[in-house]
Amino acid sequence: MNGKTHQRREHWASRLGFVMAAAGSAVGLGNVWRFPYVAGENGGAAFLIIYLAIVFTLGISIMIAELAIGRAAQTNPVGATRLLGGRAWAGLGYLGVLAAFLILSFYTVIAGWTLSYAMKMASGALSRSGADTAQTFAGFVADPAQTIPAAAVFMVLTIAVVLGGVKGGIERASMVLMPLLFLILVALATRAVTLPGAGAGLRFFLTPDFSKVGVATLTTALGQAFFSLSIGLGAMMTYGSYLDRDQNIGHAAGWVVGLDTLAAMLAGFAILPAVFAAGLNPEAGPGLAFVTLPTVFASIPLGALFGTLFFVLLAIAALTSSISLLEPIVAYLIDEHGMRRVPMTIAAGAAAFLLSIPSALSLGPWAGFTVFGKGILDLLDALTAGIMLPVGGLLVAIFVGWVIAPRMMAEISAGVGAGHGQPPRFARLWLWILRLPAPVAIAWILLSWAMA
Ligand code: PHE
Repeated sequence: MNGKTHQRREHWASRLGFVMAAAGSAVGLGNVWRFPYVAGENGGAAFLIIYLAIVFTLGISIMIAELAIGRAAQTNPVGATRLLGGRAWAGLGYLGVLAAFLILSFYTVIAGWTLSYAMKMASGALSRSGADTAQTFAGFVADPAQTIPAAAVFMVLTIAVVLGGVKGGIERASMVLMPLLFLILVALATRAVTLPGAGAGLRFFLTPDFSKVGVATLTTALGQAFFSLSIGLGAMMTYGSYLDRDQNIGHAAGWVVGLDTLAAMLAGFAILPAVFAAGLNPEAGPGLAFVTLPTVFASIPLGALFGTLFFVLLAIAALTSSISLLEPIVAYLIDEHGMRRVPMTIAAGAAAFLLSIPSALSLGPWAGFTVFGKGILDLLDALTAGIMLPVGGLLVAIFVGWVIAPRMMAEISAGVGAGHGQPPRFARLWLWILRLPAPVAIAWILLSWAMA
């Protein structure tokens, strides 16, 4: 808000710390829970190819754009868009902070499930063979006495990290949790692909069947890409605002996108072969991780151990993402309204938790209450991942590509090579993607979806 705040702005302690934090934001429930079932429902490999194409063209370009906006402005998404583009563009920042708040509210509910399931697995209750996992799951999600306290515990963890600030909280937690997450993911994927009968799952995941691909597949892949990369809502702008100018944004974004993709692929390898090996259906939808996998774990040696590890993995992935949803809101309150971190973190976290209660209830007592045929949790998911993030990404592309391009070119050139200030090799391609293919593709996908 004023020069003083900017000078004292906390920055990442190291480049690795930033990459871990940003990758921590990107790698989340979206990779380990959502990606495998969405791929399973949309033809496996065919979906994977479309998804990868979107991620490595539009996705990475928008991520670079958001990091550049944040670093250039050294402030929260609302302040950054206003500073660089004037009042009207602050709307883009507000849209992002609002989306972060809405996502945080329902994300917390699902993250709470992962905590409960880690405990159920560890206690052996779920891994007994013959246990009816579908019924267990249906009963569990419908029971607010279990899901709301679990969401509360998860929110307390999220708040605890964000209270510590950028270096001491977010960066420190990510430096420990991200390596742990990849270790567990590799262990699980190794176990799954060596199961007898895993081959069918591998073929499903790697041999494309384009007969299932339609406009809906494109919309789904686009929404999944934005959600998974944490773009379109200012989370990356906020993390970028804690970056030093001697860092190469293009490199950093490459690492984050690479790690996010690796995590999604590993989750696919950990889950789909196991599902096929157990003779189950990959099209189980959101229940894939909570219903189908426990059945798999019940049927393999040391299943309870691997099952517990899996849900601990999900909880860790969720935590490093949820902190990146809370941080933009807190940064906004600190930078724009001169508030202090500790009370604002607690207040924003508590407010998001209150909003998570209707989402939790929507799968139980409030199941009858639907809008457009969806319960509150599904509605918030569709509204954010399906609409707000793509619209946010579209606006970022137009803003950076057409409105503040020269400034952004200079920004992505800072910290590159020894010469400092030479545009990186990808700069022209990047700007072109933001100017034409990105807005056209996103607008086309959104419109054809809206008209369908
Ligand atoms: N990228 C996270 C995931 O895949 C979710 C997320 C979205 C986090 C947007 C921050 C911002 O689960």
